[in-house]
Amino acid sequence: MLFRFSFFSVFFLCSSAAVLSPVRHDRSTGLYSLSICTKTPCQDTNLLVDLGSSFNWIDCSHNYTSSTYRSIPCTSSLCNSLGSHGCSGDCSGNHLPGCSKNSCFLSLLNSGKRKGITKALALIDSLALPLTDGRNPGPLKNFPNFIFSCSATPFFRNRRPKGTAGLAGLSQSNFSLIGQLSKQFSLPRVFALCLSRSPSAPGVAFFGTFGPYYFHPLVELPKNLIYTPLFMTNPAAGGGETLHRVSDEYFIRITAIKVNNFVINVNGSGSDRAMLSTTIPYTTLHSAIYRPLIEAFLNESAALNLRLTQPVKPFSVCFEAVNVSVSRLGPLVPTIDFVMQNPDVFWRVHGSNSMVRILNRGVDVWCLAFVDGGNKSRSSAPIVIGGHQMVDHLLQFDLDSKRLGFSSSVLVHNTMCANFNFTVNHGIR
Ligand SMILES: *[C@@H]1O[C@H](CO)[C@@H](O)[C@H](O)[C@H]1NC(C)=O
Ligand SMILES: *[C@@H]1O[C@H](CO)[C@@H](O)[C@H](O)[C@H]1NC(C)=O
Ligand SMILES: *[C@@H]1O[C@H](CO)[C@@H](O)[C@H](O)[C@H]1NC(C)=O
Ligand SMILES: *[C@@H]1O[C@H](CO)[C@@H](O)[C@H](O)[C@H]1NC(C)=O
Ligand SMILES: *[C@@H]1O[C@H](CO)[C@@H](O)[C@H](O)[C@H]1NC(C)=O
Ligand SMILES: *[C@@H]1O[C@H](CO)[C@@H](O)[C@H](O)[C@H]1NC(C)=O
Ligand SMILES: *[C@@H]1O[C@H](CO)[C@@H](O)[C@H](O)[C@H]1NC(C)=O
Repeated sequence: MLFRFSFFSVFFLCSSAAVLSPVRHDRSTGLYSLSICTKTPCQDTNLLVDLGSSFNWIDCSHNYTSSTYRSIPCTSSLCNSLGSHGCSGDCSGNHLPGCSKNSCFLSLLNSGKRKGITKALALIDSLALPLTDGRNPGPLKNFPNFIFSCSATPFFRNRRPKGTAGLAGLSQSNFSLIGQLSKQFSLPRVFALCLSRSPSAPGVAFFGTFGPYYFHPLVELPKNLIYTPLFMTNPAAGGGETLHRVSDEYFIRITAIKVNNFVINVNGSGSDRAMLSTTIPYTTLHSAIYRPLIEAFLNESAALNLRLTQPVKPFSVCFEAVNVSVSRLGPLVPTIDFVMQNPDVFWRVHGSNSMVRILNRGVDVWCLAFVDGGNKSRSSAPIVIGGHQMVDHLLQFDLDSKRLGFSSSVLVHNTMCANFNFTVNHGIR
């Protein structure tokens, strides 16, 4: 009995070091940013959320002032573990007072189109995030020795939301946000994302906790998570052993897509890997999947008496909004299921996630929010699931068990990701 009691109290102490961050949607780019506190004194800093990035990038092209900032000596073992190759820094791209030839510069391996090496100054500064019990944020927890990379280049590979000063990497890398948080505080390597498109209330990211996560009106979200294996690119593959990748993406298997009950085979494109990406707003499909999906979607919508309109780019199916009925789960259109390792495991996309409203200069339409990725077979993956399809789903990335837990649309449970209670509870420790 005594043993049990102490076991539970130890467990409780550990699990309460979990932290969170609000995650905001940016309308003009369709992308998401999370906010952290960096530097000393602590400054609120918005970083683009990038599931695939191996490092956290911070802009130091403008004045960088912090009393806790340190550069890393290029001869240190930390610098070596960061993949640096010798002391050959070039400080002309930043305005950091401590930058010199003897500072540590990362050498990162670009994959895909922009093959090659990216060099970036590594720096150490503090980072603070609110503790959480899954219900509220608590006091800030300070992480004093957080490693950032300082360069504008990698996070300009995509458009970035206004007001962001860098990028939060959420990949499995030891130097990503989750990698560093879990290492410094022995947290489990797990994080959960609940993205919101609400302009008034943010969604939330939880780090180092399996939950439960609570959303108003006290809905406990992880109860009915569905699990599918999570694949990650092999961190050691390609380049020298000590080179880290700029990006290191997450993949799941999608074996079929169903529109209502009509099954579309996705193997025509040669792979069943689907990448999860928060840096594209809409799911992008290889043409060999996109074309039959559109065909099936139109066919299955025929009974709904919707009026097709001139499509609005980049979409190819749009309906006049007046004819579309909207329910709690969004526009009433055929459901789209991403079927995974077996037919019982699927991610159901309701109208709220499959359609996007476009209201602009006399145009008022709902468009099918999927994009034709073309016929190139080896761009990244035939299916890249984008942010719009993740909104109001709880996604739990469990890196140690290599699995993704996902909920059905939380709208089904009468809540939404914008319903997290951000009132600070100072009692959390
Ligand atoms: C940057 O610092 C310099 C020197 O301290 C100052 O003159 C300049 O106004 C600062 N720029 C910004 C954008 O804060
Ligand atoms: C990450 O850290 C772990 C534990 O310290 C280590 O075993 C592993 O090799 C590291 N991974 C990489 C890619 O450096
Ligand atoms: C695709 O899957 C279908 C049904 O599972 C199968 O009959 C077909 O041979 C597969 N095609 C390829 C190219 O693998
Ligand atoms: C179109 O819909 C009809 C009736 O629901 C169905 O029998 C047929 O298989 C569908 N075809 C396609 C390509 O979706
Ligand atoms: C769509 O709505 C308009 C305006 O209410 C109506 O005139 C039209 O008949 C509707 N079209 C269909 C296909 O239901
Ligand atoms: C892909 O190929 C098909 C058939 O060859 C063609 O009809 C389609 O336009 C192509 N898609 C794109 C986006 O190029
Ligand atoms: C939000 O959390 C605070 C602090 O725990 C609590 O006092 C308040 O009642 C909560 N609000 C709602 C709507 O649940």
